[in-house]
Amino acid sequence: YLQRICVFAARFSLCICCGSLHLLLNVQRFCIFYFILRNLFDKPLSLADAKEERMLLDSIAWPETPPLPAPFLFDQTSDPAHSIFTILPGRGGVDRHVGDQLEVMIQIYDFQGNPKKSGGDVLLARLHNRALEAGVAGRVVDHLNGSYSAVFPLLWEGSAHVEVTLVHSSEAVTVLHRLYREHPERVLFKSLFRSGSSSETTYNVFFPPSKVNLKVFIHSSGPANVMVLPPMKGNGKSGLSGYYYQGVWRSLGGTKVHQFNNSSAISQCLKGKVVHMYGDSTLRQWFEYFDSIRRAVIRLLNRAPDTLVVIMTANLRGLTPSESLNYSDWYTLQLDKVLRAVFKGFNVRLVDAWEMTLAHHLPHNIHPGRPIVKNMIDILLSYICTK
Ligand SMILES: *[C@@H]1O[C@H](CO)[C@@H](O)[C@H](O)[C@H]1NC(C)=O
Ligand SMILES: *[C@@H]1O[C@H](CO)[C@@H](O)[C@H](O)[C@H]1NC(C)=O
Ligand SMILES: *[C@@H]1O[C@H](CO)[C@@H](O)[C@H](O)[C@H]1NC(C)=O
Ligand SMILES: *[C@@H]1O[C@H](CO)[C@@H](O)[C@H](O)[C@H]1NC(C)=O
Repeated sequence: YLQRICVFAARFSLCICCGSLHLLLNVQRFCIFYFILRNLFDKPLSLADAKEERMLLDSIAWPETPPLPAPFLFDQTSDPAHSIFTILPGRGGVDRHVGDQLEVMIQIYDFQGNPKKSGGDVLLARLHNRALEAGVAGRVVDHLNGSYSAVFPLLWEGSAHVEVTLVHSSEAVTVLHRLYREHPERVLFKSLFRSGSSSETTYNVFFPPSKVNLKVFIHSSGPANVMVLPPMKGNGKSGLSGYYYQGVWRSLGGTKVHQFNNSSAISQCLKGKVVHMYGDSTLRQWFEYFDSIRRAVIRLLNRAPDTLVVIMTANLRGLTPSESLNYSDWYTLQLDKVLRAVFKGFNVRLVDAWEMTLAHHLPHNIHPGRPIVKNMIDILLSYICTK
């Protein structure tokens, strides 16, 4: 028989991520597509269905962000140093147990120390324990009034430390939004001006260095830690893909993740399979492949409904001031949501690179660190070789 497994990867770096590679092993077939999500909108969506387009746009709806008055007052933009978060008391009193939820309230202030009154800031939240190498992503809810909630499932016994990060202020989102509307064709906000034989290159975004807030931690008003006791009841549904424990990703979606620690274990899994990999880490891939890949998946699933399709989502990346001129996690977040929306309802499995890079203690990097990649590959191989 012929079994096909397709992997769609966004921003995924592997030694095998090198253009088009065809490994003929035997009967099974894997089609692995690597592409970059960032530039989905570099070309008008060619999706025929207007309804679907609306659904996609809804999936990335972002709260209205403040207009940018001229002259622009940086002092009234979101300031992570003035902003605070507070761990809310648990429902069941003081004691918290594995299986409970932890809720954190975040209040954003501006540089003058005034509370913000509108939403749209880009926040990331993570709950972790460094000694246990445990970590899980938090779900951030925007209350549209300057306050946000972050909600975490409590998944391990012992200490759990809350980390809240302001990625961009809502004002920066206004800028990004405008850039993305006015310069949809570019990911690098770079302009080349020519006049006769002379030319000049400029960047379109300027954040004064003193007021840049790119992935800055927000402090807590009280303790940022909770102690988690053994479970009292079964785990509730968190909607998350998984979490790290002792450095190993545990799926919350019912998939048992096996470890493939050496090349012989990997070879054994892949033995008798055909591996097809398409694409590489070039930006152009996205718009060239997105539509055709999707159509190809539909055709493939119609032809061979047993095919296992694995989608690797976008991941967080480093955002130094210079990198943020070219890229933004906010764009990536939009594209990640679109990817999930596009394949929603399809019989596909996810390798949730977004959560896996958020939950891990390693710094965000477009090419995630080795321990994260190892976990990603373990998940991929676990889908392929259920054992
Ligand atoms: C903002 O909205 C949330 C949720 O409705 C509410 O709990 C909070 O008190 C509000 N904050 C302010 C400052 O109005
Ligand atoms: C893989 O390696 C880890 C860490 O060295 C170890 O804990 C685990 O048992 C190994 N798994 C297998 C299947 O060999
Ligand atoms: C590779 O890993 C498998 C299972 O994880 C283990 O049984 C085997 O001994 C390992 N082989 C080598 C060469 O380390
Ligand atoms: C941003 O883009 C410019 C122009 O292509 C490039 O020279 C620079 O290295 C990029 N910076 C980063 C951090 O990627």
